[in-house]
Amino acid sequence: METQIGNIHLLSPFMNASGVYCKSKEQLIKLDNTQLVGCVVSKSCTFEPRDGNPEPIYWDDGSNLSINSSGLPNMGYKFYINKNITSQINKPYIVSVSGLTVKDNLTIIDELLKNLDISGLELNLSCPNVIGKPQIGYDFEAMDKLLYQANLLVQNRKLSDKKFNFGLKLPPYFDMSHFDIVSSIINKYEIDTITCINSLGNGLVVDPKSETVVIKPKGGFGGIGGSVVKQIALANVRRLSQLTKCDVIGCGGIKTGTDAFEHILCGAKAVQIGTQFYIEKHEVFERIYNELLDIMSEKGYKSLNDFCGKLKVIN
Ligand code: SIN
Repeated sequence: METQIGNIHLLSPFMNASGVYCKSKEQLIKLDNTQLVGCVVSKSCTFEPRDGNPEPIYWDDGSNLSINSSGLPNMGYKFYINKNITSQINKPYIVSVSGLTVKDNLTIIDELLKNLDISGLELNLSCPNVIGKPQIGYDFEAMDKLLYQANLLVQNRKLSDKKFNFGLKLPPYFDMSHFDIVSSIINKYEIDTITCINSLGNGLVVDPKSETVVIKPKGGFGGIGGSVVKQIALANVRRLSQLTKCDVIGCGGIKTGTDAFEHILCGAKAVQIGTQFYIEKHEVFERIYNELLDIMSEKGYKSLNDFCGKLKVIN
């Protein structure tokens, strides 16, 4: 079950999706101590600490449909890159970065690169919930400009520390031509990993009984997660693993070992769990790990590489 994402070696392919139980020091350390979590990912951080959007910001149906409009509540980037935290995490530690401006993103990345305890960054180009801030992953020109500058910073550190991982978190794409455009931008830079996909935004959940929305911000609109997004996630994992040179981290609709198996079959080298982690808490990792192991042993697969990316097509 060992795997490699970019420059990071993982003992387990499972990790948390940024945003779920990873905002405070206690939560990060608990993730680090959770068996079969291969890597710890922080809450997406901004330059200043943020309270996020007004509550309620999250809803799920208990089975695996979720909507959130958290609005990036976080402790500010200094908190996540401080030695006080980084020195206490023993597993690979990835800091998710979601600055509200290009300048904020570059400042955060520049500071983050100075801490050698951090294994990598996941630059979040896909938060659907900050009021007045469109997702940069849908603005190809802005995305290209940001990646150009971020890449310069990261490559400087890589001259001395080849192990640093430069990752992106992308929104879901739907059009085949968008896969081509986004991969041609990504391939211009030394990006090691891409996480596909962030929640599907914006969606709307309606409670027909009370005739209301289920979360408060933006009149109820937010990012949709869970099984309902799985097929979109699989398409993104598949196409972007074919078109880019990056290792893809699959995220979206992973509730069972079968879901993780499908992501890996489509090309994911590792997977993140969001909605189901929120619902089931830390036990989810061991359960899904064991379910995946059972599937592998039934099929005679000894390692993830035996089936990673080997989805068959109909000729
Ligand atoms: C949020 O804080 O609103 C969620 C972050 C994200 O979806 O990227």
